[in-house]
Amino acid sequence: MTDIRQDVLQGFEQRFGRRAQGVWSAPGRVNLIGEHTDYNEGFVFPFAINRRTLVAVAKRDDHVARVASTFSDEAHETDLLSLRPDKLHGWSAYPLGVAWALGQFGADLWTVPGVDIFVVSEVPVGAGLSSSAAIESAVAVALTDIWKLDFDRRALARVGQLAENKAVGAPTGIMDQSASLLGRRDAGVFLDCRNLHEEIIPLGFENADLELLVIDTKVSHSHATGGYAARRASCEAGARALGVESLRDVHVDDLPRAQQILDDETFRRVRHVVTENQRVLDTVRTLREHGPTAIGGLLDASHLSMRDDFEISVPELDLAVEASRGAGALGARMTGGGFGGAAIALTPRPLVGAVRAAVESAFAERGYTAPDVFAVSAAAGAT
Ligand code: ADP
Ligand code: GAL
Repeated sequence: MTDIRQDVLQGFEQRFGRRAQGVWSAPGRVNLIGEHTDYNEGFVFPFAINRRTLVAVAKRDDHVARVASTFSDEAHETDLLSLRPDKLHGWSAYPLGVAWALGQFGADLWTVPGVDIFVVSEVPVGAGLSSSAAIESAVAVALTDIWKLDFDRRALARVGQLAENKAVGAPTGIMDQSASLLGRRDAGVFLDCRNLHEEIIPLGFENADLELLVIDTKVSHSHATGGYAARRASCEAGARALGVESLRDVHVDDLPRAQQILDDETFRRVRHVVTENQRVLDTVRTLREHGPTAIGGLLDASHLSMRDDFEISVPELDLAVEASRGAGALGARMTGGGFGGAAIALTPRPLVGAVRAAVESAFAERGYTAPDVFAVSAAAGAT
């Protein structure tokens, strides 16, 4: 963190010709289990990872907000007094969308000072590890400090989500921002997305001699277009047809009745969400009662449900899961929204090399782009 802290401070000085007032940061996340359940008012169990996005910020004596990042040559600026979510361009929709969303949640953008923001990140972009939530959450905590706003972490998660929904145009849920803002070292964030009640659950990977490997398939994904929105629409249609407010209200025991009412595709979408909610509850219970070595089967079942029922996997993700299981991982699944991105593999530490080698050679054999395989640990949320 020290080097990257220097980078962001130096980058700020070079870009804006003065010193930053401070540095704020927020992590990316891995979702251990609970996929496409957040916008169905269900359960998720992600954790914040030890890769962060840092922002160096200083206030200005006008109403202009300027953003620059090592991620892109394109710098952006806007007047806070005329900020509109549909007028934000490119990557600036994330940080400036957060400024707009703070206004929607009650911050008076007419009285706050302008800001210069410089961004540096160690979260891989577009890999399904939520570099987007990391930049949103880092900017959110920075602006609440600089603007002296009184927002708690749950409210800031909603701010980030609103920015993503309205400024970026991705109809995503609340999971990523919650993990980035509420995460704790060595623990997962078990979140009930109906009431945003969270419980911090120790993961115990280290004591059990386990590593959580991320396999970045390098297949890029986007949630602002296509499949993600279509899956969300199917879930909403399923809930309507079943006469419930959200799929949270459907239990595993209700599935036979649902099958009689719904068309085959909608039924399979619904079955994924309903069984995935149950798997999150089972994972938390299993973790508490038997420790992390016992959760592998639930991760595997989650992947199959996403592959076959929700149909959001891609061949590279399936291969990452199969190869890592074949080399001794206890359980593996794709993580995040799907259609690309990363898989995770819960791996006994002595087998990390074997799993990495198996995945790399399986990808090479099929002629796929070489994946990036690395271990992550659960880290503290935004600071
Ligand atoms: P991810 O899975 O990484 O969240 P998304 O496609 O949802 O992928 O979000 C990635 C987008 O977030 C980038 O294309 C960019 O617009 C924005 N972003 C992420 N990190 C940065 C950064 N460090 N600087 C500028 N923009 C960023
Ligand atoms: C994306 C999205 C989240 C969640 C996830 C699937 O990461 O941002 O809100 O829906 O996909 O579980």
